[in-house]
Amino acid sequence: MNAYIETFGCQMNERDSEILAHLLGRAAYQQTSTIDDADLVLINTCSIRGKAEQKAMSLLGRLAIRKKKEPRLKIVVAGCVAQQEGQRIIDRVPQTDLVIGPQEIYRLPEYLDKVVRSGKSLVANDLVDRFKIPDLGHVSPAPAASRFLTIMQGCNNFCTYCIVPYTRGRETSRPVADITAEARKMIDSGTSEITLLGQNVNSYGLDRGEENAFPTLLRRVASLPGLRRLRFTTSNPKDLSPTLMACFRDLDNLCPWFHLPVQSGSDRVLRRMNRKYSRREYLDRVAGLRDACPEIAITTDIIVGFPGEEEPDFADTMRLVQTVGYHSAYSFKYSPRPGTVAAGFDGMIEEEEKSRRLALLQSRQNEITLAVNRGYEGGEVEVLVEGTGRDPGQWRGHSRHNVVVNFTADAPVAVGDYCRVRVVQGCMNSLRGEKI
Ligand code: 5AD
Ligand code: SF4
Repeated sequence: MNAYIETFGCQMNERDSEILAHLLGRAAYQQTSTIDDADLVLINTCSIRGKAEQKAMSLLGRLAIRKKKEPRLKIVVAGCVAQQEGQRIIDRVPQTDLVIGPQEIYRLPEYLDKVVRSGKSLVANDLVDRFKIPDLGHVSPAPAASRFLTIMQGCNNFCTYCIVPYTRGRETSRPVADITAEARKMIDSGTSEITLLGQNVNSYGLDRGEENAFPTLLRRVASLPGLRRLRFTTSNPKDLSPTLMACFRDLDNLCPWFHLPVQSGSDRVLRRMNRKYSRREYLDRVAGLRDACPEIAITTDIIVGFPGEEEPDFADTMRLVQTVGYHSAYSFKYSPRPGTVAAGFDGMIEEEEKSRRLALLQSRQNEITLAVNRGYEGGEVEVLVEGTGRDPGQWRGHSRHNVVVNFTADAPVAVGDYCRVRVVQGCMNSLRGEKI
């Protein structure tokens, strides 16, 4: 039997989908890359913004229609929408066989079996406080040069716009031994780049009462033989410590890239977002990082049109992106999420006004990104080859600064190779170059 997985949302979800693919394999499903061939379709959903949720729900709607003609089709909804909506998904789309939250995915084969035996739909979305991620570390649908490794689940920050604390529960850190064992298995299978994942990696270990455990973990993982590149994401600026900054000075294989979501450049908005840092503190952290590692590439996330954001607040954000000079930024229109504090705030901004601010911000950031990328022209970068590029004869991968590089090569190149590439052109979303 064939299974098709569609993944929305963050890297955490991508990693969960790898685990789901492995578990489907145990339940005798092979992965297929064409949805029409599938006997089972699993949608791994994201609820971070309304749009992500709508995309998943419209795919579910199309599958429900198909199932009317093809009753044997199994439909599974996983991820954050599954967690949040639970039974309501089955009420709306009764063709759904299984709704399974992020903490429950490890029991997928058991639940599938139940569904098949009973012929009835099932909802599994329990959320517990001290969730232990089972040790499925080595599992992977295929060997890969670059892999994600989840080090913790959940979030305790309760930023007023964010749904994650409600869908992924409280912070729970995996034991250091589990993480290093998993990293070792990945390296043994041919992985040379690992990205450690968590909603807020800086609070790794705090749930066990350990202060500043993340820099220690980082040093442990960095010291594993065979690991050529180490990255992590995401960090809340409020907890970014000097000890973590120092890692960028000391660890050769820790890549010079830091994703530091700012969300807004206005102190008033940051307070209403419950971010627990000020614009000044944020800029100080940026300066600290650059002091530890002058070449570090900083990227960010920004929300425009948060309730009550006025013109001067937005101007503060525009000035901040200029001041920091981000390598790139993900920016979004504020989307009210059910159950979050901000969804009940006064001062909702009109959709049209949000779009106007987003367009202004994105065009400013695009200019900055282009200037940063042009700055690489004529220089050399190291690329981990991930696949073929857009044009024929081209290869593609990321630089140590996490910039996409497309390049040509005279000699043979294989996925997983590290190539030195001369940058010929800096474009908006990538660099173009030639293998040296
Ligand atoms: N509306 C818009 N953007 C949001 N994000 C999180 N919640 C919302 C929301 N309700 C953005 C933040 C976060 C990124 C992953 O998504 O910028 O860092
Ligand atoms: Fe989306 Fe957040 Fe869930 Fe990731 S954790 S899938 S970004 S809602």
